This record gives sequence, C-alpha cells and structure tokens, in this order.
Amino acid sequence: MSRGKPPAGLREMARVAREARERAHAPYSKFKVGAALRSSAGEIVTGCNVENASYGLTLCAERVAVFKAVSEGILAFDAVAVVADSPRLAPPCGPCRQILWEFCGDVWVHLEDLKGHRRTLRMRDLLPYPFDDRNL
Ligand code: THU
Repeated sequence: MSRGKPPAGLREMARVAREARERAHAPYSKFKVGAALRSSAGEIVTGCNVENASYGLTLCAERVAVFKAVSEGILAFDAVAVVADSPRLAPPCGPCRQILWEFCGDVWVHLEDLKGHRRTLRMRDLLPYPFDDRNL
C-alpha cells in the first residue's frame, strides 16, 4: 500500500474540498462530492459533481477539478483531496482514476468524510497496472 510520507496540507485541502462539495449539483443522487487538486506550484483547483437530468452526462467532482485545472494551463499536480458523506470513505470511481492518472500520475489522494474519518494513499494504490501513454 502507500509508501513514503504524505505531504503537508492535506487536511487544509480537504477543508477546501468540503466547501466545494457544498456547490455540488446533485439533485438526482443527493450524493455530494467535493474535490481539491493541488498543483506543483501550490495552487488549489476545486471541483464538485455536476449531475444532469440525462443521468449519464453527470461529471464527478474529481474530473471537474482536473478539467478545470487543465483548461487553465495547470498541468503538474502533487495531491488531491476528495470529500463525501457516505457510510464508508468514498474513493474516486474508475473513470476518475484513469483521468487522475493521465494528468496527475502517482499523486497523493486524501479521502475524508464529514465525520472525520480519513485515509491517505497514492494513485498507484488505487490504479495498479494502469493503461497510459507508455502503452501507445
Ligand atoms: N461521484 C463523484 O463525484 N466522484 C466519484 O468518484 C464517485 C461518484 C458522484 C457522481 C454522482 O453525481 C454521485 O457522486 C453519485 O454517484
């Protein structure tokens, strides 16, 4: 599992992700998620899930954060925090793992819920044996 020491500031990132979670547009699932992505230069880019009446068009919080960052020209990252409120800590879904791997590589992933449960691991723990540009 996780190797090395997580970087500083993950709890503060989770606090920012918790605020982003409040902006989730989740009228269908009622399941709000917030994400905070930290660039290598220390900038924080947030995301929340954005659902649609055409359910399959829903975008997860993590992907919203990544696409916001990339669209702003931010391309190097060192950590992501994800906050949800569920019976067990909610890790990024499969498609989000693939997108996070593409743009963030083996970053630290910090999970929190609203009750104070938390866990920090690395992308390579969430997505072992990934498909990426080395396979092309
Ligand atoms: N969701 C996320 O935002 N991130 C994830 O990694 C898992 C799921 C959202 C999508 C949908 O709006 C709601 O949570 C329920 O699946």
